Amino acid sequence: MLAPVEEATRLPDLEEPGYDFGGATFDLQDPDDREVVRFILSQALYGEATGVYCGRSLYAARSLEAARFYVRQAKQELAHLELFADVFRSLDMKPDRAHWVIRALSAHNDYYPLKVLMEHAIGEGMVLDIFKDLLLQTLPDADPRIPAVKKKLRVVCREEMEHVAWGEKETVRLLAERPWLRVPFYGLLEIQMAALPALVRAFRSRAADHPVLSHVEGFLAHVRSRVYAQGRRLGFVPESRPGLLARAWAMLVGVLLLARSQVARSRSQLPAIYLDELGFGRDGK
Ligand SMILES: [Fe+2]
Ligand SMILES: [Fe+2]
Repeated sequence: MLAPVEEATRLPDLEEPGYDFGGATFDLQDPDDREVVRFILSQALYGEATGVYCGRSLYAARSLEAARFYVRQAKQELAHLELFADVFRSLDMKPDRAHWVIRALSAHNDYYPLKVLMEHAIGEGMVLDIFKDLLLQTLPDADPRIPAVKKKLRVVCREEMEHVAWGEKETVRLLAERPWLRVPFYGLLEIQMAALPALVRAFRSRAADHPVLSHVEGFLAHVRSRVYAQGRRLGFVPESRPGLLARAWAMLVGVLLLARSQVARSRSQLPAIYLDELGFGRDGK
């Protein structure tokens, strides 16, 4: 059964602990640590660049509330992009190319239900894990440049929380409208979760004796279990994990929907609903 919208969506507390890094921080004077921080920030910068295209959801917006939200969000994502560029400059770093997993996870999708689920609900939820749990905890306050960076990051986190809450609200609405989306949504989530470990593979060899990197596996496990819990809360992840065959079926259906979405075009909505939405009644009567 689907949870009611109010129950399924809630705004997390910025100070609410997600994963606990136990006070471990990076050393921004150490060249190896700087490489790791540069890697993380490079993924964030790419994510924000593609995040600006949330503006494309405006075309599929079914209400003025949704239209207003996407216009506001696109402006916020553009500001986040510039803000991360400032962080690079203040730390005297140059961004690197984004990892293939990040490029795959943030690939643009024109099919509105998939964009809502993969980008707004799941994708931005994981972005928040990185910003709120990883960066806010592990960037060293002792470095004089970091307090200003964290101040900006907290602003970004608050806005990302709103984006996730909106994505969750829309996901619940779309699932109530089209319950068949549950299976492909679940399959796609399984695929995304299977791709995540590739992101941290490069750091595994250094993880054992590094204060932050030794948390990599624990943090990954936390993100995965949080995402599965989010999917259960939204009503498309089964309470207990299905067997291999059922998972493989869901993944296949998910891939087919993804393939279909590459040629799907969203339909414009506002011309059909603007009179109603503006309070003039249907057809202006
Ligand atoms: Fe953002
Ligand atoms: Fe966002």
